[in-house]
Amino acid sequence: MQVAVTGGAGYIGSHTLIELHNKGGFQTISLDNYSNSTPDTYDRIAQITGTLPYYEKLNTADAKAVEFFFDQNKGIEGIIHFAADKSVGESVENPLKYYHNNIASLVNILKAVEKHQIKNFIFSSSCSIYGNIDDLPVREETQGSGTESPYAETKKMGERILSDFYKKHPHLNCIILRYFNPVGAHESGLIGELPLNIPNNLVPVITRTAAGEQAQMLVFGDDYNTRDGSCIRDYIHVSDIANAHVLALDHLNTGKLNKNIETYNLGTGEGVSVIEAIKSFEKVTGEKVNYKVAPKREGDVEAIFSDSSKILNEIGWKPIYSLDDMMLSAWKWQQNINSPIANN
Ligand SMILES: NC(=O)c1ccc[n+]([C@@H]2O[C@H](COP(=O)([O-])OP(=O)(O)OC[C@H]3O[C@@H](n4cnc5c(N)ncnc54)[C@H](O)[C@@H]3O)[C@@H](O)[C@H]2O)c1
Repeated sequence: MQVAVTGGAGYIGSHTLIELHNKGGFQTISLDNYSNSTPDTYDRIAQITGTLPYYEKLNTADAKAVEFFFDQNKGIEGIIHFAADKSVGESVENPLKYYHNNIASLVNILKAVEKHQIKNFIFSSSCSIYGNIDDLPVREETQGSGTESPYAETKKMGERILSDFYKKHPHLNCIILRYFNPVGAHESGLIGELPLNIPNNLVPVITRTAAGEQAQMLVFGDDYNTRDGSCIRDYIHVSDIANAHVLALDHLNTGKLNKNIETYNLGTGEGVSVIEAIKSFEKVTGEKVNYKVAPKREGDVEAIFSDSSKILNEIGWKPIYSLDDMMLSAWKWQQNINSPIANN
């Protein structure tokens, strides 16, 4: 199957290209504008798989460029749409950037799906669409408090656009995956998350602190109503996320979907606290993390973790990597990293 992977040079996209290669039977082409990645990722993928992926520089928010690409590549039968801006904080500062890139990109790609009747589509959504939740673990039908940022809203709107679109196209198929907290890196340490700005998500902050790039990290709040007082999240290894896309594509391709559009949570189902994550990192790496407890941060939810039984039951996906694997692989990547941050 020929599969276009938008955002294929990015964090999750690059790991997915590897897993698709490993599975076999997929001919992929990555479409990326490198707004949050660099094309040398493909060389590192080639070091891992022995094959340089096909790729083309393309801005998915550019309607004409997207139309031109798909007019020229008529054999594509599947699309995994990762390309989007993803920083919650930046989306609050610059909402139009997010509404423009994330929504225009999706609409442009769906126009190609419609024009060329591309059968299989996978969309990257996020647990941020739930907002605050009282009823844990989160199931797909759980109603949360609603989105807390323009970024999360673009994912919610994206889901709505897909729901309307696929209602009109019952013979085309779509899977929406709502990722929880992707962390870790490929076991080779050759690819991983490459934040172009100073990261504020937990695992890169832990690894940067241990590497001495940041003197100390802050744990925001130790008086939440949780096991150790720190916030709880559902961390999931990026290679497990990548694998879910392979299984989802197979599932779409073999026509096993119950409805023509289905939504699945993608998390381990295990809540892990900030302190537990730090302790796991220290145990598996032998490195000390210099952290200090700071006041709670506005907008942080106390705890969120998924019920991922739907994807297990219907698609047969389950996570194979442990929290320790996530931390060790993130550390391996940090040690190999050659980002602008590392050079600061
Ligand atoms: N990483 C997370 O924590 C997380 C959680 C939930 C959902 N998601 C979603 O998963 C997807 C992938 O996330 P990621 O962590 O790999 O992010 P990433 O920033 O590493 O990858 C996104 C890729 O898309 C590219 N891109 C962005 N806009 C583009 C455009 N207009 N045209 C072409 N390429 C474009 C970037 O250059 C980058 O390579 C995104 O849709 C994101 O919103 C990520």
